[in-house]
Amino acid sequence: MLDILKYPDPKLQQLSAPITEFSKDLHELLDQMAKTMYTAGGVGLAAPQVGKFICAFIVDIRPLEEERQLFEFLNPSLSEGQGKISFEEGCLSLPGITAEIRRKEKITIHYQDRYGEKKSMNVEGLLAAAVQHENDHLDGVLFIDRLSPLKRRFMKRKLAKSITL
Ligand code: CO
Repeated sequence: MLDILKYPDPKLQQLSAPITEFSKDLHELLDQMAKTMYTAGGVGLAAPQVGKFICAFIVDIRPLEEERQLFEFLNPSLSEGQGKISFEEGCLSLPGITAEIRRKEKITIHYQDRYGEKKSMNVEGLLAAAVQHENDHLDGVLFIDRLSPLKRRFMKRKLAKSITL
């Protein structure tokens, strides 16, 4: 199990660097990230959330053991996308709060797999939202940063309370 950084840790705002070596260490990290995500009950986890500032995240919107479908995205870049969709989002780095976030309904993600092979995938709906949420972590952006200033202030107050209690 890896430790997950929690808000307000300033490291969550750090930018992640592209991956250049698709090494055994990287594969081990990805495997540990998957274990950590499933144990914590999340549907996505980005490397910077576990203190590794590299462009990698994993997503599984079907985390039940018998239905798992794990995706690994390395050095991702997202197309502009189409449509609008919103989901009630949470984040393993912001325990205890959720908020409805509007995102693109359909996007194409260009990425590399764990062996460095270049690939692309069209994603939509919840998977598209999860990909956008995780990709934001690589830019040091949290879902509360996508709220209006008023809602963000409300959420931050709620978070401050849950941290001090
Ligand atoms: Co998150």
